[in-house]
Amino acid sequence: MLYGTLVNLVPYDERFRAREHDWVNNESRFWGSMGEHFIISKATLKREYEEWCRSERHETGVIFGILTTDGTPIGGIGINWLSEHHRVADLGAVIGEPAYWGGGYGTDALLLVVDYAFDWLDMRKVWLGTMSLNARVMRQMEKVGFALEARQRRATLADGRWHDELMYGRLRDGWPGYAAMVAALGLRPPAQPAPE
Ligand SMILES: CC(C)(COP(=O)(O)OP(=O)(O)OC[C@H]1O[C@@H](n2cnc3c(N)ncnc32)[C@H](O)[C@@H]1OP(=O)(O)O)[C@@H](O)C(=O)NCCC(=O)NCCS
Repeated sequence: MLYGTLVNLVPYDERFRAREHDWVNNESRFWGSMGEHFIISKATLKREYEEWCRSERHETGVIFGILTTDGTPIGGIGINWLSEHHRVADLGAVIGEPAYWGGGYGTDALLLVVDYAFDWLDMRKVWLGTMSLNARVMRQMEKVGFALEARQRRATLADGRWHDELMYGRLRDGWPGYAAMVAALGLRPPAQPAPE
């Protein structure tokens, strides 16, 4: 378990899987998948989970549930894939509860995962891909000190229009650590109860 300021990262257990059918069929899916809308059934989710457990990705990836500090499961974040040889990790995140977007929860979770990748897994680089329509992620990358390293032109189709896929990377050199990043960004525990 990784303890944060607005969220804690915990095993992605039943609390999260019970919410997943809603999450993959609401607006967060469009953003998380870079433009997909089609409905996903519970049977498909179950099959995909079983396949994932058997796949190599399960051996090299790490997924955490994002739990607010008051105990609400709001999404998942982690390492989709990593290379022990190159010491690089490909990150991904989805907050499935739109009411929690824009409140710093995702950035707190990202800081925890980056810190975990560098300090625990000894990675030297992390990266993350998103579509050029995703202003929240672009702002989040800026806040956490990722550099825009590559632009794949017209790589994603969202609502009938082509968008670029942006690849952001952050090197371990110069990473000040979770606590220093929280202080620099001014992240604080929520004063009010979390949104309904
Ligand atoms: C991406 C995601 C994890 C980020 O988490 P989050 O909690 O929303 O992020 P934060 O609040 O820490 O940061 C988002 C920033 O974008 C800003 N923002 C929000 N809406 C915005 C918009 N429409 N345009 C520009 N900036 C926007 C926020 O104000 C915030 O910046 P600030 O701290 O300077 O105010 C979350 O929004 C999410 O899961 N979205 C849906 C799925 C998704 O996009 N996944 C990522 C796929 S690569």
